[in-house]
Amino acid sequence: MKVEGKEYRTIWFDEKSKVVKIIDQTKLPHQFIIKDLKTIKDAINAIKNMEVRGAPLIGATAAYGLVLAIIENNDQSFLKKSSEKLINSRPTAINLKWAVDRMMKKLLGVNNNEILNLALNEAKEICEEDVKFCENIGLNGLKIIEEIYSKKKDTVNILTHCNAGWLATINWGTATSPIYHAHKKGIKVHVWVDETRPRNQGANLTSYELNEEGVSNTIIADNTGGILMQRRQVDMCIVGTDRTLSTGDVANKIGTYLKALAANDNNVPFYVALPSSTIDWEIKNFKDIPIEERNPEELSHIEGLDENNNIKKILIYPKKSKAINLAFDITPAKYVTGLITEKGVCKASTEGLKKLFK
Ligand code: MRU
Repeated sequence: MKVEGKEYRTIWFDEKSKVVKIIDQTKLPHQFIIKDLKTIKDAINAIKNMEVRGAPLIGATAAYGLVLAIIENNDQSFLKKSSEKLINSRPTAINLKWAVDRMMKKLLGVNNNEILNLALNEAKEICEEDVKFCENIGLNGLKIIEEIYSKKKDTVNILTHCNAGWLATINWGTATSPIYHAHKKGIKVHVWVDETRPRNQGANLTSYELNEEGVSNTIIADNTGGILMQRRQVDMCIVGTDRTLSTGDVANKIGTYLKALAANDNNVPFYVALPSSTIDWEIKNFKDIPIEERNPEELSHIEGLDENNNIKKILIYPKKSKAINLAFDITPAKYVTGLITEKGVCKASTEGLKKLFK
């Protein structure tokens, strides 16, 4: 998708310099900086510090991290250790483990010079596949937006939480892909963008990328969605997910659950968009999903531009106060109207998912 009119992807490999290029998302929306990842440590830090974030992009970065590990030290035990460190770098998004497992299946036991090419091709393939899947999610979700538009004959108002846009994937995004497809088709859409405290992925990333593509959007405080739904100013919600169980239960950015409850109370359709790499076929009970707990400093401090246009971090809480920073929550399947996947839209249930995927 576009930044200042130029097409970008969120991650790519530079053949000449043998480095992985990313957009440093910790600097957006104020600075657009392309950063080099040169070592496996760089890749792990980029995931941990959220220079890259969003489930599919974390997976792709892990895949490229293994490429960097091979360039650094072509040794199987180094590769295994690197894969473990990558999987542990963030716990909730299943795409991380999915990508590492897929890479290791190709790379374990390969001791010849071909290993680098194998790794590079697989990492590229993971990215290409994600682009294709996200595009298909867009085409499948477009039908739902078209249906609402044909009944309403006016702007379709869509609420989204966090950033499940192209910046969270390789291109297109998951939740935003149907929106981009609708916009390109000339359907009038407007997006209510949840700010998404504490890291403000909605305000800093979703609104930014929608602006760059010319999609009308308004940032709202996280607690505003409820009254907008009561006032019938939300036609549908679309969010992303970091891990969807085969039962249809959905783990996503903290606050998603409360939006789903409000949507349910107001009969607003609540959709979750995801590529199949985000499905966890193993865990059956949502209580077993590891929920990331991040540094409370992400709550107590806030970053923005100062009067000299420098990025500055300031404390906004009482110095003595404690804070807890749970990064994800679970939305039970009963509150999800449907899952929008690359293979079609299905019920958020074992039967629904099985019809599409098994
Ligand atoms: O903490 P983040 O920014 O990595 O969380 C991202 C989300 O919760 C997204 O909604 C999710 O990964 C879906 S991305 C297409």
